[in-house]
Amino acid sequence: MEVVIQPDAAAIARLVADEVQSLLAARPDAVLGLATGSSPLAVYDELVRRYEAGVLSLARVRAFMLDEYVGLPDDHPERYRNVIEREFAGRVDLPAGAVQGPDGNAEDLPAACAAYEAAIAAAGGVDLQLLGIGSDGHIAFNEPGSSLASRTRIKTLTSQTRRDNARFFDGDVEAVPRHCLTQGLATIMSARHLVLVATGAGKAEAVHHLVEGPVSAMWPATIMQHHPRATVLVDDAAASRL
Ligand code: GLP
Repeated sequence: MEVVIQPDAAAIARLVADEVQSLLAARPDAVLGLATGSSPLAVYDELVRRYEAGVLSLARVRAFMLDEYVGLPDDHPERYRNVIEREFAGRVDLPAGAVQGPDGNAEDLPAACAAYEAAIAAAGGVDLQLLGIGSDGHIAFNEPGSSLASRTRIKTLTSQTRRDNARFFDGDVEAVPRHCLTQGLATIMSARHLVLVATGAGKAEAVHHLVEGPVSAMWPATIMQHHPRATVLVDDAAASRL
């Protein structure tokens, strides 16, 4: 695992965008894995800047999202499909329909999970997976205790994650859904390059376990230690317990 410590989120975003840019230079039809949450936002802004500057095109890219809440109305602003459209896909030249996510409103949720795994496989797998990390060490919505061999499935969110994410729901924890569909840890590990970004002191403990702790389902991100190509980019505050 490569650990890169940078002064701030903007510096991290430039390095991640360099990585995406060189991937797309080699493979314009690459498959990207997109994450939601606040951590990747600076990366998306930097990619949009490069698209607007004419140095980056995503016209042939396909993308897969990590996760989705269960049961939010289609037009809810915090539905992850809508978040990704607003923060990234709608600001670059990704073609309509190029971004897929698990269907948290499907009638048959286990079937939707299986269909999502099949869609990722049919696309040839993910070339570069962008990741944030929860303060409890979760990646996507693989909460502590998740099987290290898990695939896309339904999960119950922990109270900690619902409290963390309440800021996106006007501070109302009760408005945060209780369930989600998420790529499993084994799904994420199948991506060819994992790029995790974390900033701020609130992530310091999770980053400490991720980089220096034993691999454990209680800190799900630690599975990344077994990935042949994992890059962890953190700012000084998130690196403060290393
Ligand atoms: C959310 C998302 C994760 C994200 C994490 C951290 O619950 N499902 O994909 O990495 O929590 O979020 P943030 O980047 O806002 O701190």
